[in-house]
Amino acid sequence: MHRIRYVNLSVKDKNLKKAYLNSLNKIFNHGIFILGPEVDQLEKKLANFCNRKYAVATGSGTDALYLAIKSLDLKQNDEIITTPMSWVSSTNAISLNNVKPVFVDVKDDLNIDVNKIEKMITKKTKAILFVNFTGKICDIKSLRKIAKKYKLKLIEDAAQSFGSRKYGSPSGSFGDISCFSLNPMKVLHSLGEAGIVLTDSKKIYEKIKILRYAGTVNKENCYFPSLNFKIDTIQAAFVLNNLKNLNKKIFIRNKNAQYYIENLNNKIKLPVINKNEIHSFYSFTIVAPKRDELKDYLIKYGIETKIQHPILIPNQKAYKNKKNKDKLKNANILVKKILCLPINENLKFKDLKYIVSKVNNFYR
Ligand SMILES: Cc1ncc(COP(=O)(O)O)c(C=O)c1O
Repeated sequence: MHRIRYVNLSVKDKNLKKAYLNSLNKIFNHGIFILGPEVDQLEKKLANFCNRKYAVATGSGTDALYLAIKSLDLKQNDEIITTPMSWVSSTNAISLNNVKPVFVDVKDDLNIDVNKIEKMITKKTKAILFVNFTGKICDIKSLRKIAKKYKLKLIEDAAQSFGSRKYGSPSGSFGDISCFSLNPMKVLHSLGEAGIVLTDSKKIYEKIKILRYAGTVNKENCYFPSLNFKIDTIQAAFVLNNLKNLNKKIFIRNKNAQYYIENLNNKIKLPVINKNEIHSFYSFTIVAPKRDELKDYLIKYGIETKIQHPILIPNQKAYKNKKNKDKLKNANILVKKILCLPINENLKFKDLKYIVSKVNNFYR
């Protein structure tokens, strides 16, 4: 049977393997395994790529979000508006800073519904943490208008959207603070855990740098209690290698997406790419009637799909007892229908054809 995995992260490309090993050798030689020169290089490169002044690489995307919020010095009972549809880290980063997450419903593109934000703003609202879910950038013009009107900070959870662009600007440039995950599932990735925070504010940058290293300045003087959020030098080096293949990957992912868009049955709602945007297609998420049956049907034919993510954050055990004003009607409908089809750059044309034929057969 034809078997298609959702992703296969094993390193098959000989040149890439060689580049990784070369990087490791360099690091073995200089021996600076923590905050080595590769970390500095990565911070400079990604700041430059995203048109930002400052970058602080972290141990994970979760660390990046946690530190971004921490740097704002918010008070207990302050509120941050966010989306229910994301990986749980987006909200955990808010809660662990003793701030209340306030969820606002999503639109059919799976991103926060900007038209529903204003009525959720209170005196306690201090920021909006928006997520570029699936890699699609949110309605940034409206978010900026709201943030300006109510003097709110914008935090961009760009964990899924490295390489996406809107109105000519890259993801990572849209928040007062922007955060990426660089874990192995991401389009730009390390070979383990890694993340990065970007900002144009010197004050925020300096604070996050201190917070990353146990709250210390010059390594020994602790200014604020904090934990250890540093990235490994080795992971920074792997990300630097992968940056070289980024454009090619995004090109192939878009080609794959185009094939799906042109050929999949019209009973499915497909991602929409607008004129003024580039989508990096972290995931190709469809909204599919009879989603669970479709998923089971595809697995019978050897096709692995993913539901990212099957539980809305406010419905997670950790958040279930907390009241939320917005009933999140659309999100509650969509979460039962979303399904990610394989989209990665290693798929062959025959794989895509096979997936399309099986999905379309299901709906026949
Ligand atoms: C939207 C979103 N936010 C945050 C994270 C957390 O990133 P990490 O796994 O690197 O901690 C992820 C990772 O999957 C994510 O998809």
